[in-house]
Amino acid sequence: MKPEICAIFAIGPDNVIGIEDKMPWHSKKDFYHYKQVTKGYPCIFGDRTFFGLPKYPLTDRLNIVVKLDIPGASVIQTSQKDKAGKVEYTGGFIEIPSIETAINFVSNYSKIFICGGRSVYKYCLENKLIDTIYLTKVESEDLSEKIAQDPDKYIRFPIDIEKYVKGWNCDDIFYDPAILPQEDSDIMVKFLKYTK
Ligand SMILES: NC(=O)c1ccc[n+]([C@@H]2O[C@H](COP(=O)([O-])OP(=O)(O)OC[C@H]3O[C@@H](n4cnc5c(N)ncnc54)[C@H](OP(=O)(O)O)[C@@H]3O)[C@@H](O)[C@H]2O)c1
Repeated sequence: MKPEICAIFAIGPDNVIGIEDKMPWHSKKDFYHYKQVTKGYPCIFGDRTFFGLPKYPLTDRLNIVVKLDIPGASVIQTSQKDKAGKVEYTGGFIEIPSIETAINFVSNYSKIFICGGRSVYKYCLENKLIDTIYLTKVESEDLSEKIAQDPDKYIRFPIDIEKYVKGWNCDDIFYDPAILPQEDSDIMVKFLKYTK
């Protein structure tokens, strides 16, 4: 059976999704949600997003990185040095030269996650590869002010998502507030799931 291809992303004020290779906010609630939704499934990243993650590879998920200028698929092992200078292997990821090849590679899974960034979302949405969208709406007055002060510094979502999902089913995702971690800023998040 064909896997369900899901895109997962968070959009903040003024359609902002990034700053350089990083997220422009830190939301503990969104990290929790992201892990709940993607755990156990392959996650496909553009190489800029992947190497900008605070820690990579993500645990409990097969991490796939798409990169145009490589001849074929390869497995890359990641390592770090401990305090004594001894090298420890921390996991690994697969590098693949196209999004379609990456999707085919993991087509035995029931779900596959497209995890950005901007260019990867644009390609997948424009080519109608996505069946389900997990959207986190992020609000923060502090961030809105920062964006207004220097709007060109930020990366924005590449398409009009409200228009794109017109006619799709939309469900809110709720968690028990006792389980969700508390934010340490004024950030507020809302989790939505769109299905075709
Ligand atoms: N808010 C969110 O939910 C969210 C989620 C993810 C990322 N982001 C943000 O998005 C920003 C990064 O986006 P970005 O567009 O600059 O970078 P990106 O999409 O993460 O990575 C771009 C690179 O991915 C590779 N790539 C892209 N399309 C490809 C394709 N069709 N086939 C094969 N390889 C492909 C290319 O690598 P090579 O050039 O090496 O060939 C390209 O340069 C960051 O700010 C990040 O924080 C936000």
